[in-house]
Amino acid sequence: MKLSQGIAGLVVVAASVLLLVDRTEPMNPALARLSPLPPTPLDPTNRWADDARAVRLGHWLFFDPRLSLDASVSCATCHDPALAFTDGKPLAETLGVGIRKTPTILNTVHSRWLFWDGRADSLWAQATEPIENPLEMGMDRLALAHRVLAETDLREAYEVLFGPLPELHRSERFPAHARPIPNDPGHSHAVAWAGMNEQDRESVNRFYANLGKALAAYERQLVRADAPLDRYVAAMAAGDTEGGGHLSASAKRGLELFLGRGNCTTCHSGPTLSDLEFHNNQVPTADGRPPTDPGRFEGARLVKANPFNGAGAYSDDNQGPAAARVRRLKTDSMGWGEFKTPSLRNLAGRAPYFHAGQMADLESVLHFYSTLEGASGQSHHQENVLRPLHLSAEETADLLGFLLSLEGRPLDPFWNSAPPQPSLDRRP
Ligand code: HEC
Ligand code: HEC
Repeated sequence: MKLSQGIAGLVVVAASVLLLVDRTEPMNPALARLSPLPPTPLDPTNRWADDARAVRLGHWLFFDPRLSLDASVSCATCHDPALAFTDGKPLAETLGVGIRKTPTILNTVHSRWLFWDGRADSLWAQATEPIENPLEMGMDRLALAHRVLAETDLREAYEVLFGPLPELHRSERFPAHARPIPNDPGHSHAVAWAGMNEQDRESVNRFYANLGKALAAYERQLVRADAPLDRYVAAMAAGDTEGGGHLSASAKRGLELFLGRGNCTTCHSGPTLSDLEFHNNQVPTADGRPPTDPGRFEGARLVKANPFNGAGAYSDDNQGPAAARVRRLKTDSMGWGEFKTPSLRNLAGRAPYFHAGQMADLESVLHFYSTLEGASGQSHHQENVLRPLHLSAEETADLLGFLLSLEGRPLDPFWNSAPPQPSLDRRP
């Protein structure tokens, strides 16, 4: 975060403290900025983002273990609807153990950057990564294309929407396994990929991006809004100084702390309760050793180099605002050890917390903000926003009450499990 932004944040916080004290003011503007959650933003980089057939196919694919090499892992294995679309583990674990905590997919359509390090700039670009991650689904894009061709239901659903698959029967042009692996060019998959002609690589990439676009169309449905905080703010805006009784007295005190002395809105601002950017909170590491995860430092470089980014050949709007955003992005060293500010909506049910699941529950998160106990070492380009808050037991309970007022209305249960089949002529 730049110093100017930090100062701006502090000014906002200072202004909000003054407004909270001034009871004649109808509503604190800092509070008004937290609600309501705006409508789902359009994604012109994905032509199928709001296509009902793509939603249906994506819904099916999300729960389909055939997207993994040994058909044992689906997206839902780690993003389990019963656990707020997470896995409940500190580090994701399927074919191997990863280095980061599985984040929720609820409301993630409101993110600007995806992943803890922001190495993808759209939901569809994001979806291509876990499929080929050897620790997650272990697939490669050629094997996936051959599988979609072989499985009639998938092939039909794919072709109705996106047109014919690549000419996969031409085995001299389309090997059984291949994918680009920039940091391991000697890997057999990478060698096979390099051996393909450019046009064929492009047709496979397009197939792969299309699957991502269908998955994204489904993920766009996973929004939980209209939390008690939203109802409280709406009532306040309508002139009810009690906020319709939607927050308890304790949650209201927690809200004042959140906007005021707690400084939380320096980063957890706006209607997602995230600035959608990256910060280094010096979260303790699990083993107490100095942190090794470069976070945004690497993520910024990766998203610019990602062929599936908004400015790339597979984007359906590669001259639009999403393309400009990724082109503008700077990859300087300010981002070392920074992670995305998570949205604080729908926190319950997605424990443990922080980027490597370092905190088992929300009480432990608040204990950290209160004491900064175990904070991992400063580096020279560390931002210095956090100060120990020295919260009393009552203040901790109040903040917790506030955080739990951010639970949106439950999803329509239709989205919580696989649809009956990938047929394209069913609801919604
Ligand atoms: C092995 C468990 C696992 C599987 C399987 C998995 N994910 Fe994830 N997912 C994760 C982890 C861990 C992260 C965070 C990784 C990181 O930030 O480096 C993540 C991040 C995400 C994000 C970004 C959320 C955000 O707020 O930035 C989305 C969206 C997502 N996954 C969707 C999917 C989809 C779609 C699939 C299936 C194609 C999938 N995931 C499969 C574990 C998994
Ligand atoms: C300097 C910016 C900043 C400030 C100030 C800040 N946060 Fe955070 N918050 C973050 C970031 C970044 C993360 C993720 C950190 C990580 O995992 O390394 C986070 C994580 C969290 C989480 C865990 C969410 C999850 O999904 O893992 C909670 C809860 C939280 N913050 C609440 C608060 C509260 C309450 C306050 C005020 C007392 C606060 N934060 C102040 C940036 C901030």
